[in-house]
Amino acid sequence: MNKGKPLNIGLAGFGVVGSGLCQLLAENADIIEKRAGRKIIVRTILVRDAQKKREVALPAGTRLTTDSAELVNDADIDAVVELMGGIDAASALIVAALEHGKHVVTANKALLASEGPKLFRLAAEKDRILRYEASVAGAIPIVAALKESLTGNRVRSLVGILNGTSNYILSEMSTNGLDFKQALRQAQELGFAEADPSLDIDGHDAAHKLIVLIRLAFGLDYPLDKLAVTGIRNLSAMDIALAREFGYRIKLIGQVTALKNGENNGIILAAGVFPALVHQNLLLAKVGGAYNALRVSANASGPLFFHGRGAGSLPTAGAVLADLIAVARGEQPNNTGFAADFPKATILPADDWRSCYYVRVMVEDTPGVLRDISGCMAAENISVAQMIQKGEMAASGVPLVFMTHETSQKAMLNALERASRAGLLREAPVYFRIMERDQVN
Ligand code: NAP
Ligand code: HSE
Repeated sequence: MNKGKPLNIGLAGFGVVGSGLCQLLAENADIIEKRAGRKIIVRTILVRDAQKKREVALPAGTRLTTDSAELVNDADIDAVVELMGGIDAASALIVAALEHGKHVVTANKALLASEGPKLFRLAAEKDRILRYEASVAGAIPIVAALKESLTGNRVRSLVGILNGTSNYILSEMSTNGLDFKQALRQAQELGFAEADPSLDIDGHDAAHKLIVLIRLAFGLDYPLDKLAVTGIRNLSAMDIALAREFGYRIKLIGQVTALKNGENNGIILAAGVFPALVHQNLLLAKVGGAYNALRVSANASGPLFFHGRGAGSLPTAGAVLADLIAVARGEQPNNTGFAADFPKATILPADDWRSCYYVRVMVEDTPGVLRDISGCMAAENISVAQMIQKGEMAASGVPLVFMTHETSQKAMLNALERASRAGLLREAPVYFRIMERDQVN
């Protein structure tokens, strides 16, 4: 290890997180040197547009470039920090950096979700560090917790709020009455959203993070394209208000549960990203703004609850900096927390998941309609716990809301299909899972 010699980094990206990192490296320089035993110096920064006006000044002595070769070919650069986002250019840069013997730190969950196993194999082959604390849940140290602190545990489940932008939008719609577009615009202005915000609102960003967490928690490869993902794009103010009347908040949830498989003592994973109702008294319901939270259940520790800023410049940059300090200390590569490659996960089909449901249908306000819809539920053995009919008749009908007891997604979809075939529905039905107390508290 190069004690006393500065750790020179090549930084790819000088946007929300990259500029936050430069700010923190300057503000916390004394503590960084005390903790790492050496300085961390940004030698070169890679951007797309070198002429762009920057809000944060370039660190003294740092070069700006638009040529990634200036990072990977510079023998004086020890580590490359990838904070560009996207897949192709980021992947090419990380592969080239590892090939050139450089350590890598990244916050790029989209890339890790799709190409993680390949990148971890290359890093292992080259005996290089590949760290990614900032890729999941911003400032919350969940990667380190799963990879190191909980490594002696058998994880049973993870459930949480993994996307700050969506949580910010839902909180603003629910408590301040903002509409979806206004709330999204604010999240973008505050630096929470992805460059392509559909990744946030369609649930894909949370899905990327869940895939990374599944590897860390179970050592299994859950292919991204096999994960059931629903976002919040089509969520209506009506459902947010109706859920509140029942005492619930709607949250975008990422969840994975390990169920006993029976075969070879293995596990089967039930995983997905979906908007769900969370009772207002539960901790997850109280997570507001761009905060994230994660409830981890493991066999020795029992339940643990992590809560903190899930997005934004400095919260994320702090996580990147922690990884850089680990690199500066010369810590041995422990990139995945597992000794071998990831085998493929055995997956429970989404249709077989069991849950209680909130179901809203728009119906004609006529005698017998409630009996007919209840009949469709009963035909699929679905037991209804509560029901309300709200509001005045409008062109789209009147809303009927059911809260069901536990059932499978398949049975619930079959019941709605029966109602549709019987001509009972004035528009497409809406349904959300309801998170149970023992799953989230
Ligand atoms: P950003 O504000 O859009 O900044 C991206 C930076 O990368 C810009 O400086 C851009 O250059 C540069 N860049 C993009 N593509 C490039 C390319 N092909 N070649 C060279 N430079 C390129 O993004 P960000 O919010 O900082 O996010 C960066 C990464 O961190 C992403 O992977 C994101 O998912 C992740 N992340 C973000 C947050 C957050 O709260 N924002 C939190 C956790 C993780 P120009 O400035 O010249 O355009
Ligand atoms: N766009 C992401 C979010 C950034 O809103 O959570 C943090 O990963």
